[in-house]
Amino acid sequence: MTEVHLSVFRGTPTTEGTFVDFDVPVEDGMVVLDALHWIQGHEAPDLAVRWNCKAAKCGSCGAEVNGRPRLTCKTRLSDFEDGETITVEPMRAFPLIRDLVTDVSWNYEVNERIPPFQPPADQPQETWRWQQEDIERVQEFRKCIECFLCQDVCHVLRNHETESPFIGPRFLVRSAGLEMHPIDTADRTGHLKDEGGIGYCNITKCCTEVCPEHIKITDNAIIPLKERVADKYYDPIQMVWRKLTGKREPLPMVDMPVLPKGSSASAGGPEDPPPASGDPG
Ligand code: SF4
Ligand code: SF4
Ligand code: FES
Repeated sequence: MTEVHLSVFRGTPTTEGTFVDFDVPVEDGMVVLDALHWIQGHEAPDLAVRWNCKAAKCGSCGAEVNGRPRLTCKTRLSDFEDGETITVEPMRAFPLIRDLVTDVSWNYEVNERIPPFQPPADQPQETWRWQQEDIERVQEFRKCIECFLCQDVCHVLRNHETESPFIGPRFLVRSAGLEMHPIDTADRTGHLKDEGGIGYCNITKCCTEVCPEHIKITDNAIIPLKERVADKYYDPIQMVWRKLTGKREPLPMVDMPVLPKGSSASAGGPEDPPPASGDPG
C-alpha cells in the first residue's frame, strides 16, 4: 500500500457538514491519526483533531472510522483493504465542536455525580486490609482511559432514546469498581436504578466490543450491577431481610444531567453512519 484514500468529516454546529477527500502517502506502521496529521501538515492546516499521547492511553483521539468508534492512534492503515476508502467522522453521540472534535463535557458532569468511595467511618486507613482476589476483581475497571467510545456506541445515548438520565457504560464501569470494592460501604443500587438509569441497558454488548482496554463492560460490570439492583428492589426475600437487618442506608438522590441533544449527527454532522464491516450495532 503506497497511498490511502481518506474521506474526512469537516463542519461546525452552524455550518452544513461535508466529507472531504484526501489521498495520503503511506509509510510502514502508520495509523489513522498519522494520516490526519499528514492532512493537517500538507492540505488542511485548520482540520480540528483532538489527540495527546499517540499511545492509546489518554483516550482523546476517539472518532468513528468506517462507522465504528475507535482510537485513531491505535487504528493501523494496514488494517484496511488496498484501495478501500477510510471514512473518519466525529463521535456521533456528543455535540459537535468542529470537524472531528466533539464536546464530551457531559461525561465529566456525570462523573462528578457518581457516589464516591465510602470507606468505613470507624476504621482508620492503616487498618484497611483486603485479599488479592478482591483487588483483581476491580482492577479491570481501573484500566478505563475515558475515551468514551463505549458511550458513543451505546444506542441509548447515541440515539437519545430516553429523556431520563442514563449514565452509560463508562460510568456503570466506574460504579462497578466502587460497588465491588471490598471495603466500600455505600449502597449505590437506588442511585443506579433511578439516576443512573441502568434499566435502559439491554445488554447488547456493543460497548464491550469497542473498548480499547478490553474491559468486559457488560459481563463483569453491568450484569453484576443489574443483579444487585434486582436483588434489592425486586427480590421479596432479600427485601424483607434488609428491612429486618437494616443494613446500608440508600444514598441521597442527585440531579443527574441528561446528554444534551444537538449531537454531531444533528448539528451539522454527518447524517447516517456509513455501513461498516463489524458494525458495532
Ligand atoms: S450493553 Fe448495550 S445498551 Fe448496555 S450500556 Fe452497553 S452498549 Fe449500552
Ligand atoms: S470503558 Fe473502555 S470504551 Fe469505555 S471509556 Fe473506558 S476505556 Fe473507553
Ligand atoms: S492520542 Fe491518546 S489515546 Fe489516542
